[in-house]
Amino acid sequence: MASVAELSPVTLAALIALVRKHTGIAMNERKSVLLERRLRPRMAALALGSYQAYMERVESDRSEVPHFIDLVTTNDTQFFRTPHIWEYLAKRFLPEWQRSHPDQCLNIWSAASASGEELYSAAMLCEEFQLLHGPLRYRILATDISQQMLALATAGQYGGRSVERLRASHPALYARYFVANTAGARVRDELKRNVTFCRHNLLQPLRPAQQFDLILLRNVLIYFDAEHQQTVLDCARPSMKPHARLILGESESIQRLASDYSYDAPMIYSLRAGQP
Ligand SMILES: C[S@@+](CC[C@H](N)C(=O)[O-])C[C@H]1O[C@@H](n2cnc3c(N)ncnc32)[C@H](O)[C@@H]1O
Repeated sequence: MASVAELSPVTLAALIALVRKHTGIAMNERKSVLLERRLRPRMAALALGSYQAYMERVESDRSEVPHFIDLVTTNDTQFFRTPHIWEYLAKRFLPEWQRSHPDQCLNIWSAASASGEELYSAAMLCEEFQLLHGPLRYRILATDISQQMLALATAGQYGGRSVERLRASHPALYARYFVANTAGARVRDELKRNVTFCRHNLLQPLRPAQQFDLILLRNVLIYFDAEHQQTVLDCARPSMKPHARLILGESESIQRLASDYSYDAPMIYSLRAGQP
């Protein structure tokens, strides 16, 4: 393997700009160790001896861009992350939605789904709701910019802490919706039958245009600066049905942005009255 040169301040700045260009993610100089650690194995695999050469590859070879995106995105997630929100969805959102939309199909968008724990949590939520309250038609669109994450989400195969945490916190759901195997556990096909997977960059409008009753936009805005947060919100707005709820992550707030969303409760937003 060619030895890799150090990441100089000038090269680091160019790399940070390249990350922003392809993902919208805003990094600063403190991310240099993270970038080095993530990019070096890929550079070695491609026998590229400098970051400059790797950046040129990303810019000149479109097939390298998805690998680059996989490497620079952070994909931490877990089943039923932020339990308080899932309580709200089970006890408030779904009963109210079903009362006011009898016989309609509930459309959910898991908008930065990572490896899929969030979208399968939503599917389990809907399946459990049906057991208690009768039929509920639902569809889930799962999108992420990382094709590697989408592949993991589509496979629905989980191991390690992800499954252990779920088995400890929700043993009945684990037993009902997962099949144990040597690698951990796989979600049952019934959890996948209402799910569509699609690669999507949140800085662009969703195509084809679709509207949702619930958008889970959790733990992704934190990676963007205010300008790109605003772009993400502007792009998501046409995807909100008039009564829809937008759910953010625990450390995210959009109240300071000039947005069309109004604050309902921590992490929960809806369209401002009068917005189409
Ligand atoms: C920390 S995970 C959040 C996963 C899940 N929503 C949750 O809250 O547990 C952030 C995800 O955002 C995705 N992401 C980053 N930039 C994106 C962009 N511009 N468009 C779409 N997804 C993006 C990453 O690939 C990553 O999977």
